[in-house]
Amino acid sequence: MNYLLGLDVSTTGSKALLIDERGAVVASHTAEHPISHPHPLWSEQDPADWWKGMVESIRAVVAKVGDAGDIKAIGLTGQMHGLVCLDENGKVLRPAILWNDQRTQAECDEITETIGPKRLIELTGNRALTGFTAPKIVWVRKHEPEIYAKIAHVLLPKDYIRFELIDDYMTDLAGASGTLLLDVAKRQWSNAVVDALQIPREWLPQVHEGPEITGVVSAKAAELTGLKAGTPVVGGGGDQAAQATGVGAVKPGIVALTVGTSGVVFAPLPSYAFEPDGRLHAFCHSVPGQWHFMGVMLSAAGSLQWYRDTLCPGEDYGKLTAEADGLKPGSEGLIFLPYLSGERTPHPDPLARGAFVGLTQIHTRPHLTRSVLEGVAFGLRDGFELIKASEAGRIDEVRVSGGGAKSPVWRQILADVFNAPLVVVEALEGAAYGAALLAGVGGGVWPDVATAAETGVKLGERVEPGANAAAYDEVYALYRELYPTLTPAFHKEAEL
Ligand code: XUL
Repeated sequence: MNYLLGLDVSTTGSKALLIDERGAVVASHTAEHPISHPHPLWSEQDPADWWKGMVESIRAVVAKVGDAGDIKAIGLTGQMHGLVCLDENGKVLRPAILWNDQRTQAECDEITETIGPKRLIELTGNRALTGFTAPKIVWVRKHEPEIYAKIAHVLLPKDYIRFELIDDYMTDLAGASGTLLLDVAKRQWSNAVVDALQIPREWLPQVHEGPEITGVVSAKAAELTGLKAGTPVVGGGGDQAAQATGVGAVKPGIVALTVGTSGVVFAPLPSYAFEPDGRLHAFCHSVPGQWHFMGVMLSAAGSLQWYRDTLCPGEDYGKLTAEADGLKPGSEGLIFLPYLSGERTPHPDPLARGAFVGLTQIHTRPHLTRSVLEGVAFGLRDGFELIKASEAGRIDEVRVSGGGAKSPVWRQILADVFNAPLVVVEALEGAAYGAALLAGVGGGVWPDVATAAETGVKLGERVEPGANAAAYDEVYALYRELYPTLTPAFHKEAEL
């Protein structure tokens, strides 16, 4: 039997997932790693913790196969946008600055001014956002010049794991798209942006397509992990592209909706396009020659988790969401705004805030619960509407996955609010599964990503929009008025 290994360095843990050539999961192991917030808005991790956890996880799954030589290839995925700075000997110079770190607003403004807002979006497909990599590099130059002076290489988190495995500096195009340094249309680093920001070109790793082989496991890494030296390691993809691959959103027409801590609407594109205001991200897909649009909501199931933990501590999610079933659309005049961590799509605003709008004495716990489920669905519809109006073309199917998709009540609300049928995909292994599929293509098990996805992806229940869809159009129209109306108050509150 041939096996494939997907490795995912996420914000919470280092995971190794082993699948076989029929796409079945053979073994999975995750080692958690810590995160530190040394200042408000900062978010950092030690790359040594990722590698230590990954070695544990790889060893655990390799033990499940008789011969490590049966693992035909390895695919990498992980948290995007993070910055790992290394010196000329490959030594890590400071803790990695993560995707959810918000320290770089001044650098984002500076980059936008230097390159020009329109030109930046045309070239990179994106606005300068605090989470992205380039502003982090500029921040290190400004605030830690002694570290900046020693930098010889910069890597994304998953590419640090790759560096430990293959002893070389490589990345993939989907991940590189989240740096703000890639010419996303040309699928290569953007000399225009790199030069304008005065970032040495030689610091950047070589870019590869998702299934392309980037190197092989070194003897040193083999000894540490139990893998066979010489096993190929493919490009893989950032966690969103890999997650989409893992649910089969690998051709235009199939949209992936992920309701995890954050919420993502992901649409493959046949050719490069960008949203003129940069409200959607335009990235390379991990499918060779494809791009994708993506709307990212920062607190999706994260909103429900906050609500449960804060107002209904210890309550079972199934029970909590079932209570909200049967209430009318709009929770009898109550609307929840899900901007608990600020927002990205469609309002790139770190100062956006959450709110319950319209509370009266008739409202009970089920109303509050339902309004949270609805508010998140409205926020996701914002991304969906932008995608519908974009070059993504006709949408044939929306595939939903993530923790939030486990609730039948929430699934129905999502189908009604989107007014589109949803197909549930049991993607319990998340992005690691997509990375393993990409490994299968690079390792010669499947001829292309579409075949890999067809083999591996198992479709579940189909949820049709119901009678509530029309009523939700009205409530959604009101929801859309609330952010612009409340923005001055949100910004004043943040100042206070
Ligand atoms: C994608 C994004 C997150 C992080 C962490 O743009 O910010 O998906 O990659 O998971």
